[in-house]
Amino acid sequence: SQLRAFASTWDANEGGLAEAVRSCTRCPLHRDATQAVPGEGPPEAALMIVGEQPGDQEDLRGRPFVGPAGQMFDAVAAEVGLDRTKAFVTNAVKHFKFTPRGRQRIHQRPDTSEINHCKWWLEAEMAQVSPRLILAMGATAAQALTGSGDRLLARRGRVEERPGLPPVLITLHPSYILRLRDAGQRAEARANLAHDMALSRDLVA
Ligand code: URA
Repeated sequence: SQLRAFASTWDANEGGLAEAVRSCTRCPLHRDATQAVPGEGPPEAALMIVGEQPGDQEDLRGRPFVGPAGQMFDAVAAEVGLDRTKAFVTNAVKHFKFTPRGRQRIHQRPDTSEINHCKWWLEAEMAQVSPRLILAMGATAAQALTGSGDRLLARRGRVEERPGLPPVLITLHPSYILRLRDAGQRAEARANLAHDMALSRDLVA
């Protein structure tokens, strides 16, 4: 495909695709963010894991899932024996979208046009990695990868197939779990994420 050809050009260039992502100014989100956060992991990973967008910590450090959501992600992955370093970990949107409140930066969910605009990079990463399975964490990733914004809770734990795409296993976003106030609900959601991560590990084994 055309994207595959682009992806191999990036491979050949210094810095490759990640460098191209870092220089992105294709939408206004780059203006307020510190930096773009490209995906990271082995270029031949069998499993690709997709989140929503970088958070505050990820924006500052330039790496995906290194803040509170990343800690939850790492803890659950370790619990089920999913080796994060073997997966390609990325986000549907590559820049942090936020509104300032005092000295804090409050996360804003990317809208459909931002998700669609940034799909260019997600598709380039998919073309480069050619994963056998994608684990979509949360509604934004699910929408970017399947085109459907249908209710996530009714879809999680299942694999969705779309022509020309690797199968997509839908699961909860770690930040969603962190936001749940009720301890019982939080434990159940965390167990669901663990179940889906274990399933993704088994499906690419
Ligand atoms: N949430 C995400 O979706 N991705 C990150 O990289 C961090 C938090």
